[in-house]
Amino acid sequence: MGESSILESTQPETESYEKPFRIETIDAAETAPVLERLEAEDATLESVEILGPEEFKKGRSFKIQKRRREWLAARLAAKRLLNWRLQQEGIYLKPSQIQILNKENGAPSVVLEGGKIYDRCMISISHSRGTGVAAIAPPDCLIGVDLEAIEPRASSFLTIMAHDDEWSNAMDSDLTEQTRLWTLKEAVAKLLETGFTIGFHDVRFPLHGDERRLELHNKAAAAFERINSPVIHFDSFVQNDEVLSIAYTAGEPAHA
Ligand SMILES: CC(C)(COP(=O)(O)OP(=O)(O)OC[C@H]1O[C@@H](n2cnc3c(N)ncnc32)[C@H](O)[C@@H]1OP(=O)(O)O)[C@@H](O)C(=O)NCCC(=O)NCCS
Repeated sequence: MGESSILESTQPETESYEKPFRIETIDAAETAPVLERLEAEDATLESVEILGPEEFKKGRSFKIQKRRREWLAARLAAKRLLNWRLQQEGIYLKPSQIQILNKENGAPSVVLEGGKIYDRCMISISHSRGTGVAAIAPPDCLIGVDLEAIEPRASSFLTIMAHDDEWSNAMDSDLTEQTRLWTLKEAVAKLLETGFTIGFHDVRFPLHGDERRLELHNKAAAAFERINSPVIHFDSFVQNDEVLSIAYTAGEPAHA
């Protein structure tokens, strides 16, 4: 498989340029009332209110409460964004009429009441420590989002995750830098809709001076070509001991 390299800076853009995406974050406290209704022994679709039938079934099926909570938090975040997006098109639906299910590859899929797939936007989801985050991109744009706690990671994981070209002195001890690199890779794997069926080193962010730039190799390069090689931009934020990274395209002409 051929290699391809795209040179996009991961430095945050400072100008007041309006981003093409929107993000919504829902924490455990905001999720609690719906979670309580969902976990009630006599819960019904009607009593939970916010979920559609397939979501209700899935939400009730989690064995671990942490998973159920963060899955729900992300659904609430995504429904808020979709409600906003659909209203722009003059479509007014209740949250239970907008379901966020998953495609076979795991990527989110928006299904409206009646079973119609809504594909005039791309949604990406991440969860961490009970918080759910969703990001939405307009038609013709792609997006991937990842939220991870800044915490120590095993050196065995770091050496597998990071390629030699991505290693810097900061990577030895800076937990924020380690987390940022991981979230950037996950965000790209979601934008490409491959997840980590591709190798960790297939999405690579070598250092160029102070900044990292994206290189795609092997299966990631092939997936990038399948989506017509768009320019990919990045944002990373640190908030509440977590890193949130977003990879997105902005509808610009593709790389040559
Ligand atoms: C996609 C992936 C990187 C997600 O990372 P994660 O750290 O587990 O979890 P996050 O909370 O950041 O993201 C989870 C969300 O990613 C999204 N997602 C899953 N697969 C995706 C894909 N192929 N493309 C885009 N998004 C995907 C889902 O929306 C999921 O949330 P949901 O289940 O509530 O809908 C990871 O699940 C993966 O690599 N999957 C592919 C390989 C695989 O299936 N391995 C088996 C498990 S090890």
